[in-house]
Amino acid sequence: MAGQEGGLTGPDLAAGVAAADLAPGASLLGHAFGESVLLARVGSDYLAIGATCSHYGGPLAEGVIVGDTVRCPWHHACFSLRNGEALRAPALSPVPCFLVERRGDRVVVTRKEERDPLAATYPAANPPRVAPQRVVIVGAGAAGSAAAEMLRRCGYTGSVTMVDAEQKSPYDRPNLSKDYLAGNAPPEWIPLRPDGFYEEHGIAVVRARATRLDTARKSLELDGHEPIPYDALILATGADPIHLGLPGEDDPRVHYLRSLADSDAIIAAAKSAKRVVVIGASFIGLEVAASLRARQLDVHVVAPESLPLERVLGPQLGTFIKSLHEEKGVVFHLGRKPDRIEKTSVVLDDGTSLDADLVVIGVGVRPRLALAEQAGLAMERGVRVDEYLRTSASDVYAVGDIARWPDPHSGQRVRVEHWVVAQRMGQSAARNILGANERFDYVPFFWSAHYDVSINYVGHAEQWDRIVVDGDPAKRDVSVRYEQAGRTLALATIFRDDESLRVEIDMERAIAR
Ligand SMILES: Cc1cc2nc3c(=O)[nH]c(=O)nc-3n(C[C@H](O)[C@H](O)[C@H](O)COP(=O)(O)OP(=O)(O)OC[C@H]3O[C@@H](n4cnc5c(N)ncnc54)[C@H](O)[C@@H]3O)c2cc1C
Ligand code: FES
Repeated sequence: MAGQEGGLTGPDLAAGVAAADLAPGASLLGHAFGESVLLARVGSDYLAIGATCSHYGGPLAEGVIVGDTVRCPWHHACFSLRNGEALRAPALSPVPCFLVERRGDRVVVTRKEERDPLAATYPAANPPRVAPQRVVIVGAGAAGSAAAEMLRRCGYTGSVTMVDAEQKSPYDRPNLSKDYLAGNAPPEWIPLRPDGFYEEHGIAVVRARATRLDTARKSLELDGHEPIPYDALILATGADPIHLGLPGEDDPRVHYLRSLADSDAIIAAAKSAKRVVVIGASFIGLEVAASLRARQLDVHVVAPESLPLERVLGPQLGTFIKSLHEEKGVVFHLGRKPDRIEKTSVVLDDGTSLDADLVVIGVGVRPRLALAEQAGLAMERGVRVDEYLRTSASDVYAVGDIARWPDPHSGQRVRVEHWVVAQRMGQSAARNILGANERFDYVPFFWSAHYDVSINYVGHAEQWDRIVVDGDPAKRDVSVRYEQAGRTLALATIFRDDESLRVEIDMERAIAR
């Protein structure tokens, strides 16, 4: 029976559909046993998995099928159509897998199978002859936690220890400036995993600051703990917000945003504040502006550039983002720098005084490199890694915001601050520790959300000689291509998820040739 019962669309796949309805490479959305199911045909195989992405619930039926995988349209996670495995972050957990039987000229979904998220079902890496006994990961953020999970998913049974100075990591950091800050995401959505999850999977979490890395002795020193020996170590220490050093910056009304505690402090301050000055029109600064408008605060944004985000996204999207925020009531003070922060105001370099009972500074981040520098690792405005994410010290890998790697797509050594890239780096480093010998060649991807508009960006373009705009950002339907010498380096889109995925796939194929 086809229909739309209880939000379910398409045919009841447990009752079966005509096999001939699906050409090779095609898929259809239906339902079985009360759940949305994606049925796909790959060659002569009929495969079915849950149709809802395990990251934020994206509709997999609107994604793109590549071989026996499907990519999510929202943030480019990738799932195996054969077993539901989450092959690429940001999804960390599998979607359910459904058994499909051929009955005459029909295909019928017969049973649902669910697995533990860390079941050892990841396509096996080439196991090294001598597997490391002890893997230590410094930093339980995006990259570190994804690495720890991947070790178990690959069937690694040795010891895994994550060290983190924070009490609540890992959590959904991108949400801290978006729905969580706006009051639209409850606190229970923020941890990446439930209490007890790591313990249950044999991953030790040590809540301490790592202070020294001795690569000769293969030992990590911690504040208040015995040193931890390692056979392989992953550095994933992330980044710190840049402080401007303004007079008055140490006032308790002044906030930065990196951690859950920072976001909670801004939320607490916003409850009694009326007017916020955001210093910096960065992605984080502007997301904070949007979220605090949702809390009905008056929001003023101060930044030295003439157009927000123009350096990253070009003038067309910069103009759109500025007008989007202005429509929502944000007041910009562009071409201006803050001079000082006083008791009830922020004073700008032209003497303008902006009342402020809350100030948030979002002027970028600096990678946390102290441990890598102290250990004497080769540095290059970040930790220099090779294509396998190895540092200059043997058995030490660096991933996430701190790592500068050779990106085959742009042909440059790049360091980016993207959630998905950090997670995938962690996953690749984990597989390489187990002998996969896998080059890190994923196309960089990030997203940023402002009110009802989400911008997706694939590739990496620090400069370009041409921008090609197709569509109209004001209509929430646009793609912007950043080209150099006729080559697409990157694509930014608003509500053109299919195009974003297809450009990502084209970029992958271009380096495979
Ligand atoms: C508010 C906010 C919103 C964002 N939104 C987006 C977005 O929409 N899209 C996007 O692509 N990216 C976004 N990002 C960027 C993204 O979160 C980062 O790129 C990503 O978290 C980097 O992962 P990481 O593992 O390198 O570092 P982190 O996730 O920062 O983790 C590093 C961890 O290391 C720990 N640590 C550091 N030093 C030590 C030490 N010496 N000892 C012990 N522990 C240590 C820290 O406590 C931390 O838990 C956002 C960032 C922020 C702050
Ligand atoms: S919802 Fe699917 S990747 Fe985010």
